[in-house]
Amino acid sequence: MGNYDYLNEIGKEPGNLIKGLQAIQGHAGYVSDEGIAAAADYFGIAEVEVEGVLTFYAQFKRVKPGRNKISICDGTACHIKGSTQILDWVSTELGVKPGETDADGNFSLETVACLGCCSLAPVMSINGKIYGKLDRKNTVKILKEYRQS
Ligand code: FES
Repeated sequence: MGNYDYLNEIGKEPGNLIKGLQAIQGHAGYVSDEGIAAAADYFGIAEVEVEGVLTFYAQFKRVKPGRNKISICDGTACHIKGSTQILDWVSTELGVKPGETDADGNFSLETVACLGCCSLAPVMSINGKIYGKLDRKNTVKILKEYRQS
């Protein structure tokens, strides 16, 4: 079992569960089954309750993030400019669905509400770097760069 000593900085009251889960995600990038067991043990609640909280709050990730994190914007401006199509292309190209990481841990894919640069719609970010005015050609080209890195 990993080291969850950092939980000791958080009070053991069950009301602090979310804080604890945020700490676990902050350390590992996601909340693993082991993280759930550690939180349940620390806060003295059932694992199934911890899982319920994780499911309820979209901020928590249950899948280990890939080395390259792709966020496709599906905010209004990007949606109108075809973000669904971009998501399809990326998903097909990499063989990974939103909320998943590919088998070799290279890419994880998610959709987000707005990346704050709507004038460049449709937009995606990879590891925080913004790519705008996407079409099929430049999307595939961008992905290729990250495949080689
Ligand atoms: S809606 Fe996509 S960047 Fe704002």
